[in-house]
Parts: sequence; C-alpha cells; structure tokens
Amino acid sequence: MIEIFANAQELARGAAEYFLARSGEAVAQKGLFTVALSGGSTPKILYELLVGRQVPWSKTHFFWSDERHVPPDHPDSNYRMAYEAMLSRVPVPESNVHRVHGENPDAAEAANEYEQTLLPLDLILLGLGTDGHTASIFPGSDVLHETKRLVAATWVEKLNTYRITMTLPLLNAGASVLFLVSGAEKAQIVKEVLEGPKQYPAQLVQPTHGQLLWMLDEDAAAKLSMVA
Ligand code: 6PG
Repeated sequence: MIEIFANAQELARGAAEYFLARSGEAVAQKGLFTVALSGGSTPKILYELLVGRQVPWSKTHFFWSDERHVPPDHPDSNYRMAYEAMLSRVPVPESNVHRVHGENPDAAEAANEYEQTLLPLDLILLGLGTDGHTASIFPGSDVLHETKRLVAATWVEKLNTYRITMTLPLLNAGASVLFLVSGAEKAQIVKEVLEGPKQYPAQLVQPTHGQLLWMLDEDAAAKLSMVA
C-alpha cells in the first residue's frame, strides 16, 4: 500500500497517526508495543511530533532497525538522533530503550548481543537510500542473503565502516512495516523500487504475514505512474 502526503510535515503527521494506531492496538492486545526506529534524517520530524502525542510511553519498547558503528553520543548515531528528538523528552522507562551498542569495537559482537535483546516487533520503521538500500542492507551486501541471523554486522565499502542492521528475516517478520520517504532526490529510486524489476534491497522487504505500507511525500512520489 502507498500513501502520498503533500509535504514532509504532512508525511510525519500521517506517520504519527499510524504509529499511534499500531501502539493502541498492540497495548490493547498484549499490554505492550514494540517498535524499531529507523535512522537517517527523514524520521526526525516524526519523532519530534510524537513527543506531544498520546503514545503509551511506559508500555512502548524502542529498538533500532540499524545503527552506525559509533558510540551513542556520536553525531552519526541513530540512537542519538532519536534520543534528542524524542526519547529524552518523554516519560519512557530507560529499560524500554534497547539501543545497539555501536561503541563496541567488535561490530559482530554488538550485533549478536543485540539479537539477544529482541522482542517480536509490532512496527518497523524504514527509510530508503538513493541506492535502494534500507536499514543498513546495501546493494551487493553480504547480509542480503542472510537467512538465519536476525541482526548482523556488515562492512559497507563505500562508507568505509561497519553498520549493524536488522536482517531481512527479521524485517519480514514484522507485524507492520512502514517505509517513510521524503524529497525529490528520492523520486527516481522510489519509482524503480515500487514499479521496477527486483534489483534493490528495499524490494526484498515483503512481510510474511505483516502489513507493508509506503508513506511518501509528493516530491518523493513525483515519478510514480500513479502520479506522473
Ligand atoms: C541509516 C538508515 C538508512 C536510512 C536511509 C535514508 O542508518 O542511515 O537507517 O537506512 O533510512 O539511508 O536516509 P535519509 O532519511 O537520511 O535520506
């Protein structure tokens, strides 16, 4: 399913409504809500918006769909971005915040350790890179073909660094997976991923039983046949 919003602010508002709906459902069903946050720049507005909303903070557990191989106070840290935009400003118990220990010099060890902390995920947030990557599953990456591990460390040659990422078996086990994509620079890759032949990691995110939703702003959706 694809939903298109006028601009980045409206996109964040739509995503906030979806987040709240999923959280309400999960808490009603099982008393807690589990969400994997995406990194990068696109979700920041959403995180800031959620601060003022009726999120069941005490019953919400936060995970990350991927993390950079850096300490939590590093400018590139996905944890830091979410902490500053949202988690430091809301009454979420520290024990509900399950961050990747990106400071661990051994990225594979950090990935294995993280896998032990996981809970079944009600909502997984993902972004899309202009190269078709999602989480930290990049084109040509060794983790593309992972079938057993749920979290893995992967060397990203072009970034000259390791990333720690949820793998496709975990992403496709999500109850609901939401891609958030914004901006004209993403219009070409959005078209290729949603309408083109299978060649990009993001196209391999096909939840087995869960819901898959793409929320785009008009700029990111501009080249889709349904729009163009
Ligand atoms: C990361 C992300 C990554 C991101 C895309 C899009 O750690 O960088 O998880 O997958 O979602 O690169 O990033 P932007 O939102 O900044 O365009």
